[in-house]
Amino acid sequence: MKVALATFAAIPDGGSEAAMLRASLAPLGVTAEPVVWDDPSADWSRYDLTVIRSTWDYIDRPAEFLAWADALPRVANPAPVLRWNTDKRYLRDLAEAGVPTVPTLWDPDGLPDWDEFVIKPAVSAGSRDTARWRRGTEDEQARAHLEALRGAPAMVQPFLSAVDTEGETALLFCDGDFTHAARKSPILRAGAGIEGLVTGEDGRGAITPATPTEAQLALAERALAAVPGAPDLLYARVDMVTGPDGAPVLMELELTEPSLFLDAAPEAADLYAKAIAARL
Ligand SMILES: Nc1ncnc2c1ncn2[C@@H]1O[C@H](COP(=O)(O)OP(=O)(O)O)[C@@H](O)[C@H]1O
Ligand SMILES: [Mg+2]
Repeated sequence: MKVALATFAAIPDGGSEAAMLRASLAPLGVTAEPVVWDDPSADWSRYDLTVIRSTWDYIDRPAEFLAWADALPRVANPAPVLRWNTDKRYLRDLAEAGVPTVPTLWDPDGLPDWDEFVIKPAVSAGSRDTARWRRGTEDEQARAHLEALRGAPAMVQPFLSAVDTEGETALLFCDGDFTHAARKSPILRAGAGIEGLVTGEDGRGAITPATPTEAQLALAERALAAVPGAPDLLYARVDMVTGPDGAPVLMELELTEPSLFLDAAPEAADLYAKAIAARL
């Protein structure tokens, strides 16, 4: 059995996570090959399944990426889920379904009333075009940022200060079951504007193992249960942050190309490998 681990041209070997998955799949009789998603010489019919992994440049060409996924013989997560999940307007669906999410203004005409806020595009990854601004002193830059993203659409949220103090928490799920959690360190620096991101080589903060609280687990389960169509999800990452009242709120539900943070829980690679093998 053969599986493609879809990646992008900057990481043709899929990086350390692909290596971990390949090592866990081999004893199950599954050969996994990293394949660059937009490589014209790739023959996707050779694979029993394509697993989306590090296809991180799709944010420049989401339509092309989704058309490619639609045309694959078999893909995880399923193509309709990718279509829904590659645009953060899915957060509106989840909020309407009652999932506590970070309050968001969609493409507002002007700046919000919050003392400190984040502006980011609805289609993004790795904190691209994302910045935090302070009301009053940084209005001019914030307005220019908002204008630049206008129609994309732009998202405007209160800056949740718990990101700076305790970080973000990511809960990972395989076949709907919780596997592990990780803490992500802060990424946006105050006063740093659009260029001031604190990121590692793959555009994210430092990742460390974490133990979720009951409230965090409950929020993650709730978010997953609210995904339209109750699709078959090989993998899911639920990113959350503590809100001003102390309860967790959803920042992002990553069903497309999440890093699974396997470095923080190497034993979890076997669980994802088993779930992949079971699909073949
Ligand atoms: N409302 C917010 N409050 C505090 N930090 C935020 C907020 N929105 C985004 N961030 C920071 O920016 C990073 C990237 O934003 P996110 O919405 O996760 O988009 P993506 O990971 O797809 O680029 C987050 O990991 C977090 O550090
Ligand atoms: Mg994120």
